[in-house]
Amino acid sequence: MKIFLDTANVVAIKTYADMGVLDGITTNPTLIAKENRDFLGLVSEILQIVKGPVNLEVVSQTTEGMLDEAHTLAALSPNVVVKCPMTSAGLVAVKSLHKEGINTNITLVFSPNQALLAAKAGATYVSPFIGRLDDAGHEGMKVIEDIVKIYENYEIDTQVLVASIRHPVHVVDAARLGAHIATMPPDVLDKMLKHPLTDIGLERFLDDWQKAGLKLPDRGALPAKNRPIVQRA
Ligand code: E4P
Repeated sequence: MKIFLDTANVVAIKTYADMGVLDGITTNPTLIAKENRDFLGLVSEILQIVKGPVNLEVVSQTTEGMLDEAHTLAALSPNVVVKCPMTSAGLVAVKSLHKEGINTNITLVFSPNQALLAAKAGATYVSPFIGRLDDAGHEGMKVIEDIVKIYENYEIDTQVLVASIRHPVHVVDAARLGAHIATMPPDVLDKMLKHPLTDIGLERFLDDWQKAGLKLPDRGALPAKNRPIVQRA
């Protein structure tokens, strides 16, 4: 399963990109607004860091407006994915963008029926919002299970991008169900990375090492055959 960060925060994006665990980015108007920066400057910086899909959302409500914005966003870089809302105007826009070969993501999806329609319109990705479903008293993960099953039944190419993830258990459940992508806020990715037993284990290793007074040898003290070959430009 691919891991996307659901943020427009450049520091967080860089942190996880450096670790090699980041496959792409999702943003939305709220996340972009949170950064309090000029849109083009912010997005250009993100595009310099992330070579995988970078999802940018249109804000128009009409098909014509969405297509106009989509062309502007897609012109920024070939890895831009245009996010359109799950509305009738959004479906028409996605159908047209699909014909042009522009990758799209239908967002604000809350049911398997919406996901089926998004796929029929030609969406590259579909984004069911599981956290918001859970918040409203529904079972978000059941919606993912149904979408994955329906797409499998009909060999649909649209990728299931599990969105509105709130905690690491959501990530494990999404992976278990075979979703293609999970997008999550930086704090969830941070929680995936950390485990108290890792910290305790590391502390104990270092403590034992120090108590024994051990030291790794200097490279220069190694027999010549074990010395790394240093390549100079
Ligand atoms: C996905 O693309 C959305 O940006 C996101 O996952 C929404 O999540 P939220 O419900 O935490 O706002």
